[in-house]
This record gives sequence, C-alpha cells and structure tokens, in this order.
Amino acid sequence: MLKDLFSLEGRVALVTGGSRGIGRMIATGLLHQGAKVYLTARKAPACEAAAAELSAIGPCTALAFDVSSVEGARSLAAEIARREGALHILVNNAGAAWGEEFDTFSEAGWDKVVDLNMKAPFFLTQALHESLKRGARPERPAKVINIASIDGISVNRWETYSYSASKAGLIHLTKRMALRLAQDHIVVNGIAPGPFPSEMNKEARDHGDEVAQRVPVGRVGELEDMAGAAIYLASRAGDYVVGETIVVDGGVTIAR
Ligand SMILES: NC(=O)c1ccc[n+]([C@@H]2O[C@H](COP(=O)([O-])OP(=O)(O)OC[C@H]3O[C@@H](n4cnc5c(N)ncnc54)[C@H](OP(=O)(O)O)[C@@H]3O)[C@@H](O)[C@H]2O)c1
Repeated sequence: MLKDLFSLEGRVALVTGGSRGIGRMIATGLLHQGAKVYLTARKAPACEAAAAELSAIGPCTALAFDVSSVEGARSLAAEIARREGALHILVNNAGAAWGEEFDTFSEAGWDKVVDLNMKAPFFLTQALHESLKRGARPERPAKVINIASIDGISVNRWETYSYSASKAGLIHLTKRMALRLAQDHIVVNGIAPGPFPSEMNKEARDHGDEVAQRVPVGRVGELEDMAGAAIYLASRAGDYVVGETIVVDGGVTIAR
C-alpha cells in the first residue's frame, strides 16, 4: 500500500548514541512511524531519561552499553537477542570527534575516534547479524544505517584528521558491507549529515545563525531533516537504495 510506504509499524530498531543529538532525532522519527526503539549510550541516566521522554511517542527502552569495543558490541547484541526475536533496523550513529594540530595529534585522539566511528559500526553489525537475519525477508529487508558525515566527503577547515578519515572509511565500508549483506536481505546505507545542533556540534547549537550563513539553504539542520532521511532508508520506501550514503546538509558539500 503506497500510503504505508514510510510506515515502520511492527519494526524493532536499535539506535546507538540515541540519548541525544542526531541519534535522538532519528529515534524520534522512527517512533513516530510506529517502530519499537532501543536507545544505547554509555551514560545510563541520560539514556534512560531520553527513553522515558520518547516513550510518550511509542515504546522506547534504554540500554547502556559502550559500543566502541568488540566486547561491548557483543554484550549489547546479546541483550537485544535476549529481548527480541528479531531486529529490523540498526542505526550505527554513536560517534566522537577530536581536533588537534598535525604535529602533536595524539594516538588517543586517533584510536578513540576511529574505534567508535568506524570499527563499532562493523563489529556491532557483525554481532547483530543473526538478529538482523531473523528480521529480514526478501520482500521486506532488514536495514542498517551508518551515520557518516559530510567531512568524509569533502575537507573542512579544522584539523580533525581521525574524524575525516573515519567518516570517509565508513562511507566506503557501507558499500562493502552492503554488497555482502544484500545476500541475507539486509540493506546497508548511510547518511552524511551537515551541521546539526548537538553536544558534538556546539557551533551549530550555540551559534546557529553564524553557521547558517555558510549553508546554502540558510539554516542548520533540524529534527525533521534527519528523521526524514532515516525514515526513508528504514522503510519500504528505501528498499532499493543499496550501499549509498545520502547527504543531508542543506547544500554545504556542493558549495565547499
Ligand atoms: N552534529 C553534527 O553536526 C554532525 C554532523 C555530521 C555527522 N555527525 C555524526 O552524527 C553522529 C551523532 O553525532 P551528534 O552530533 O549527535 O553527537 P553527540 O551529541 O555527541 O551524541 C553522541 C551520542 O553517542 C553516544 N556515545 C558516545 N560514545 C559512545 C560509545 N562509546 N558507546 C555508545 N554510545 C556512545 C553519546 O552518549 P554517551 O556519551 O552517554 O555515550 C551520545 O548519545 C556521530 O556519528 C557524528 O559523527 C554529526
């Protein structure tokens, strides 16, 4: 039914880094389309508070895990398998940034960012492979959505070496994983956001008017922009889009 093209009724979703920022925007959108949503983040109180607030829209549960290690990813996957017969939507959103001058750029700033932004999407998807396969049908695939960044497509003015590399790597990893998982009826795609107000992007949050001047459409990203892209990829509407990373940036990338 075309009127249900974007419906997520009956779908179970997991959004990493869902306690705030872009992850919370995506969780909000999925809930409004009828999905049951699990949020994960390291800090349990913030994650639980977000889940409690979002429960006003639909069923939303907090699970506090650190997904940056393989051990953490496997523990989270085991908890999902204990609670749900199948997982239909995995949003690999949790991410971190680090800026430091080239000459002093530290190993800590490299490992923290690459482990969370690039390693975690791979190993969490691997750990959830069985749950996703149980939620996948040829006529209704399961979905993995990797949250990359426009900084993985074009170069920004900050010295965020590991961040840019991790996001470019994630965009390519999305294609490689998509090729493998298509055979299991699991469709993998990505979203590359531009400036969205968040704890990570304090500039967009606290100086939105200034940032907006560098955005062709004249504003920073909003909940509806991010929720819309995630709902599209998660729903029947996006089933034939495979291995792509959709740029949601108000035109920043084409202007850079
Ligand atoms: N905001 C933007 O303008 C923008 C632009 C392009 C791309 N992005 C990408 O969008 C994603 C979300 O960014 P954001 O701006 O919303 O950031 P944010 O506000 O800092 O939120 C990050 C989320 O990830 C969680 N998290 C951090 N480390 C984690 C870990 N090891 N395990 C599990 N969860 C963890 C955080 O909760 P805890 O701290 O409690 O763990 C929080 O829920 C990131 O991948 C980012 O690179 C953002």
